[in-house]
Amino acid sequence: MQDRDKALQRKADYEFSIGLRFTHWVRAVCIVVLAMTGFYLSYVFISAAPNSEPTSFLQANIRLVHQAVGFVLIGCVIFKIYLFFFDRVSAKERISIVDTFNVKLWIEQIKFYLFVGKHPSLKGAYNPLQFVTYFFFYLVIFGIILTGLILYVHTYHEGLAGALHNLLRPVEAMFGGLASVRTWHRIFMWIILIFVPIHIYMAVFNAVKGKDGALDAIISGYRFIKEEKN
Ligand code: HEM
Repeated sequence: MQDRDKALQRKADYEFSIGLRFTHWVRAVCIVVLAMTGFYLSYVFISAAPNSEPTSFLQANIRLVHQAVGFVLIGCVIFKIYLFFFDRVSAKERISIVDTFNVKLWIEQIKFYLFVGKHPSLKGAYNPLQFVTYFFFYLVIFGIILTGLILYVHTYHEGLAGALHNLLRPVEAMFGGLASVRTWHRIFMWIILIFVPIHIYMAVFNAVKGKDGALDAIISGYRFIKEEKN
């Protein structure tokens, strides 16, 4: 029993700052709202009750929600990128880049996922497979933001949309026109919708198998790592 207690001794390690945790959950809510409103924009499946006055702007209102939440997502993503490069607590995330180039770690990590090895000891916050997946996830988020902004400049012509219009028109042409931009916006959405359940499954898998509070870390900020014994 004593040996077991010793083996379970752990140190609370502060892994994720409050800014990172808070915006992680804001981003999660944004993705749900954007996917729901996006489905509606793609296929207008409800229509407002017929009215003799032109006041039932249901589609326009849903688009307004989609765009407003889209800008919240853009804000969170810019903030996350800032944290990644400049936040002191996020130094552990930056160190993951070094782990990503370690071939031995890749092999050990894959063995862990296949239930034939122990979890490798990592220097950074993420394992190599996880880091590369997140890197591609951010490329997809960048893609959905870019295509979203191209669609946006066609729905509104003042302010930011007016300022971005001339800048984004050549990018729109590179996509092959507005119809392709729409298609890509939807393709990026499907990649995100496939990523989300896998992300949740992997987070639960790591928490259950790693027994180190990996899920807790994105709520409390702390992960409970094994203490080195002399
Ligand atoms: C997770 C993020 C997002 C998801 C899942 C998403 C999903 C979608 C979907 C499915 C559509 C319908 C496409 C179609 O016409 O068939 C759409 C339209 C649109 N999205 Fe997004 N979107 C996201 C982010 C954004 C962002 C960041 C912006 C930028 C502000 C944006 C702006 C727009 C605009 C302007 C439209 C066109 C609305 C219209 O046709 O009137 N979206 N979105």
